[in-house]
Amino acid sequence: MKYPIVQPFLPEIGLYQQQITEIFARNRLTNKGPCEEKLTEKLKEYLGVEHLLLVANGTMALHIAYQVMGITKAITTPFTFAATLGALRMQNIATRFSDVCQNTFNLDPNKLDSADLEWADALVPVHVFANPCDVEVIDNIAERYQLKVIYDAAHCFASKYKGESLLKYGDCATLSLHATKLFHTVEGGAVIFKHKSDLEKAKKIINFGQNGQQVPILIGTNAKMSEMHAAMGLCVFDYVDDILAHRVALFNHYKERLNHFLNFQHWKPNTSTNGAYLTVLFNNERELLYVREHLDGMGIQTRRYFYPDLNELNLYCEHRDLPCSQLISRTVLCLPMYYELQLSDVDYICDNIIALLKRFREVNGTKASL
Ligand SMILES: Cc1ncc(COP(=O)(O)O)c(C=O)c1O
Repeated sequence: MKYPIVQPFLPEIGLYQQQITEIFARNRLTNKGPCEEKLTEKLKEYLGVEHLLLVANGTMALHIAYQVMGITKAITTPFTFAATLGALRMQNIATRFSDVCQNTFNLDPNKLDSADLEWADALVPVHVFANPCDVEVIDNIAERYQLKVIYDAAHCFASKYKGESLLKYGDCATLSLHATKLFHTVEGGAVIFKHKSDLEKAKKIINFGQNGQQVPILIGTNAKMSEMHAAMGLCVFDYVDDILAHRVALFNHYKERLNHFLNFQHWKPNTSTNGAYLTVLFNNERELLYVREHLDGMGIQTRRYFYPDLNELNLYCEHRDLPCSQLISRTVLCLPMYYELQLSDVDYICDNIIALLKRFREVNGTKASL
């Protein structure tokens, strides 16, 4: 593919080699080594959060968050990645879906059913593509119904809302630090807790539930981040401001170029976008499929993220009638977004999309049905 949908950021190889040489000299490969500790401190400061725990990946971050919160019945949305829901169901947490907002792609608090809210003990909203959920409204609902709130913030590295880290909202929030994310540790994730006591509990859970004397006192697992992974994080960290600025420039350029032809996710006011993803919304699925197929033929890879809507799968929980989630899952497409991409590449991709849209709409009209 000339333009893959994502490409991992690679730091200067010498930087990583130096880290690995030091790890070899210490012969300490995991279990709270110095790289992991240093990266934890750097990220706490950079993200402006207090209680951050590095873990093996973003999916384990969700598992740990759910377990620390001790939840048994959750409400979430089906317009998300399989991990949000897979981790709930693997822990036998009963789950009900609620619909998203057609414009923001996030959980729509107005559509939450009061019987579900009485039933649940947790809300698991997703900040989709790093667009903040209605955090204040969700906080109020959670307080009224005595619910824990766990945000799947996998996409939200460095996202800010009202000038502060978005990761501060909820009882906890989880990050993915996967190789394709804007900041990564090859595989990795983090949980950010509101309360220190929850962080302390999580530290035990990711290490087999053991206390300091290696006696299991909680049910736990192995979700530790290794030194090799943390070392990659330390190397990528040196570039993070540059990566962010470049992605935001690409994001803005895509929007400028495509604004008159396609719709975009409505961004919550007072938010700084991080350029994690660039998603466009087509008038209908036929139009999306037409453009996608032709882009593919030109070496421009796109991704239907998230498709299908998890509500359509009959795999996780009872199917419901959730029209907004269904509609956006059929009409949203992610376009190439990664550090190596240049503004001129965005121009090339957009020129082709615009030409394809014009051709399709000339034949079918702008409002061809699904
Ligand atoms: C919304 C969401 N949650 C969780 C994850 C899982 O993260 P990881 O791949 O690090 O396990 C992803 C992955 O991209 C995601 O998009």
